[in-house]
Amino acid sequence: METTKVLMVCLGNICRSPLAQGIFEEKTKNLSFQVDSAGTAGYHIGSAPDHRSIAVALNHGIDLRNQKARKFESCDFDKFDYIFVMDKSNYKDVLALATSVEMAKKVHLFLPNGNEVPDPYYGDTEGFEHCFKLLNEASEYWIKNMENE
Ligand code: 4NP
Repeated sequence: METTKVLMVCLGNICRSPLAQGIFEEKTKNLSFQVDSAGTAGYHIGSAPDHRSIAVALNHGIDLRNQKARKFESCDFDKFDYIFVMDKSNYKDVLALATSVEMAKKVHLFLPNGNEVPDPYYGDTEGFEHCFKLLNEASEYWIKNMENE
């Protein structure tokens, strides 16, 4: 079976996309998927995920502590089949680097119906739990959707 390659993208790659990566990896661990994450900004390159994302994930049995932030690069369009972005600002920033229709077609808002995953960075732990819930539901949605393709 061919491996489906999925990239989760947010702004800093320390809050939302590491959580999305961990959840998606957990749900596809017995399937043929490769999952990674990146940020559109370079503020946190090389950093571990935010301690609040790590804590929320651990509460749900998912360990993010081996992840390291990196910046989204144009070559990611060639390396991945699906590029999932967390909000419309990420969408705009990633799309600005696409140089073909094929590249642009790989980019999707992760939440269905055009909704955004709110940036929890300046909020409290509750915001991170809310993100977890949204990302968990979206992961299930996409896994089902991809299987039916
Ligand atoms: P993320 O959250 O995009 O979900 O990783 C943020 C992390 C850091 C910053 C903004 C958003 N920051 O401005 O440093």
